[in-house]
Amino acid sequence: MERLRYAALALALLSTGGGVALSATAPPSPAAQGVEGDLATARMLAAMLQSARGVVSAHQSEINDPATGDKHLPGRRVLAEAVDRFRAQTGLDPNAVDPKSYAGRLLRAQMDAIIEVMDANQTTINQEGVGFKGFIPATFARLVNEAFERRVGGEASIKVTAPLPLVRNRQSRPDPWEVATIADHFETANWPKGELFSQVTGEGKNQRVRVAVPEYYAESCLSCHGSPAGELDITGYPREGAKLGDLGGVISIQLMPQ
Ligand code: HEC
Repeated sequence: MERLRYAALALALLSTGGGVALSATAPPSPAAQGVEGDLATARMLAAMLQSARGVVSAHQSEINDPATGDKHLPGRRVLAEAVDRFRAQTGLDPNAVDPKSYAGRLLRAQMDAIIEVMDANQTTINQEGVGFKGFIPATFARLVNEAFERRVGGEASIKVTAPLPLVRNRQSRPDPWEVATIADHFETANWPKGELFSQVTGEGKNQRVRVAVPEYYAESCLSCHGSPAGELDITGYPREGAKLGDLGGVISIQLMPQ
């Protein structure tokens, strides 16, 4: 189901991205194409972030191993594994998205950011004799989003935030739109689990497409975010007392195509 939706969106995206009309029958209106394309772009950016975070998570015990030095996790390798996961999740090849299109530019900036953050943290993760190094998926994702912002900040931004009582890093606090999205949509009883929320906000040159993707706690999150509430986890933060399946965070994407 999820794959099909990606495929349909990708088709819409790829067929509009090339700028070549394949048939003379009435195409969707430019506005409809725009929103559809932006949603496809946002889904891809969220999927790439999740994929890369998943790679770091899969290698967490190696990263935390005090007995080995070189973990053999340079940026290129992490990106290659992230692309494999992205393909499995979406059925799309990120390298096939036209690099000159808006989506293609953003996706490449994000992939470059993944490489940059891994390469910049080699000394940390390859340090022998130290177990836990603080290099965890959430921190990695925040650094990737910051590196993305440095590349294409005028065109798009990606942030991982959370319901206010859960926020650990002050930089990740939700803005008013994110607070409202969480309260009025994601935390309502009938919100379909995993469904994103999107809205066009602002006017003129402040107009942007905002997309929020909810994320839920899995078993693997609870060693840090679970119980007993208040007791410090391995990272030194107090545990939130969260439960499996609770809303744990939101990937918040802003698109400002020019
Ligand atoms: C090893 C402990 C640990 C695990 C396991 C862990 N987290 Fe976190 N999480 C943290 C820390 C520490 C931060 C703050 C990172 C930073 O400085 O940006 C964080 C930040 C976050 C944030 C960003 C907002 C904020 O609070 O700053 C979200 C969302 C989040 N975690 C969700 C999850 C989810 C979902 C999982 C499981 C898939 C998970 N975490 C697993 C420790 C953990």
